[in-house]
Amino acid sequence: MAMLKILNVVGARPNFMKMAPIIAAINRRPNEVSQTLVHTGQHYDEAMSTVFFGDLSMPEPDITLETKSGTPSRQMARIMPLFEEVLIAQQPDWVVVVGDVNSTIACALVASKLNVRVAHVEAGLRSFDRTMPEEINRLLTDQIADLLLTPSADADANLLREGVPAERIVRVGNVMIDTLFQQLKRARNSAILDELELRQREFAVLTLHRPANVDDPESLSRILFAIGAIARKLPVIFPAHPRTEARMREFGLVAPVGVRVIAPLGYLDFLQLWSNARLALTDSGGLQEETTALGVPCLTLRENTERPVTIEQGTNRLVGSNPSRIVRAAREILSGRVSFVGRTPELWDGHAADRIVETLIARSNRTLSQQQRRHRVTEPRRRSAYRVAVSGKE
Ligand code: UD1
Repeated sequence: MAMLKILNVVGARPNFMKMAPIIAAINRRPNEVSQTLVHTGQHYDEAMSTVFFGDLSMPEPDITLETKSGTPSRQMARIMPLFEEVLIAQQPDWVVVVGDVNSTIACALVASKLNVRVAHVEAGLRSFDRTMPEEINRLLTDQIADLLLTPSADADANLLREGVPAERIVRVGNVMIDTLFQQLKRARNSAILDELELRQREFAVLTLHRPANVDDPESLSRILFAIGAIARKLPVIFPAHPRTEARMREFGLVAPVGVRVIAPLGYLDFLQLWSNARLALTDSGGLQEETTALGVPCLTLRENTERPVTIEQGTNRLVGSNPSRIVRAAREILSGRVSFVGRTPELWDGHAADRIVETLIARSNRTLSQQQRRHRVTEPRRRSAYRVAVSGKE
């Protein structure tokens, strides 16, 4: 049988922990599958990108695109023609995209235009809030992907409701939890608690970066006000995302007393930090799932979540951005009045990546012949015209 050629895409921080176990699972099948890793360059800082490759024992990307930050449209407009060139040169059998960031939809779209099959890992999640950039990315990626690899039953139901044929959906579980279980032992060697002079369960952790929370001065100051009230009871450690740090500076907001703003952390330090916290406060998607997997109480500073299973079965609770609601919920946890005992959802068992690779192999055997695949990726006819238009000479 010919080798299956998979091209994996990462772009932004939350992609790395989803892709790492897939790369490792492919490496366990060296006679069947070969792989290429493309980094779109959406995140490029040491703290937002580079550190994760070492922490997660990931290989360096084979190809890195020169993208950097910008408005979402500019970011995607830079990624797409560069990624198109990569696909034409590489001719993979599958493009694997993960999550819901701008790189996910940009690369899925390019691949589908070139008739390269796309597998979307973490498909089917929906917040039902179309003001969230990620929700648009999720909806569109799922519409064009050939294979939808879902983490939970709610995701399957969302896709079926949207008219996705059942044969395109495969529930594989939560690949990020593979990484969590794999790295937990290594994270215990992190010195972060000593460095910050913290004792287990005697502090809270805060992360905040959603545009809806941090781009508006009023909502950001309301959230910080609530966090300040919590920080009077126990210290709050706040590894600040570059976007949030920039907005605080721009709006002239300072962290309240008791809140320690630190630089973004790598995977292992951050895992050691939050898993020892009394409480996590976050607007991140991933942390809602990770806290559920380890049973750490989590208050989500959003009005909705695309991960309802973390509330129904796990330790997550939605508290929005209303200060009194946030503070009340935190006090209930700290007083021990509310117990946050959850359970780990089905298939969040550390083996999602093996199921993904198994599915990719199975689906490949039953579709195109090797000969057909070789001729599938063709250069779009209007490519040279496109280049002229971009350079402004037309
Ligand atoms: C992106 C994802 C979001 C994810 C988050 C995690 C989209 C739509 N959003 O949001 O889902 O939860 O990543 O971090 O793709 N910046 C740096 N260095 C970097 C990267 C970003 O300084 O390495 C700064 C830049 O000022 C940039 C800003 O952060 O403009 C925002 O970055 P961007 O990639 O646009 O979106 P995120 O807010 O990080």
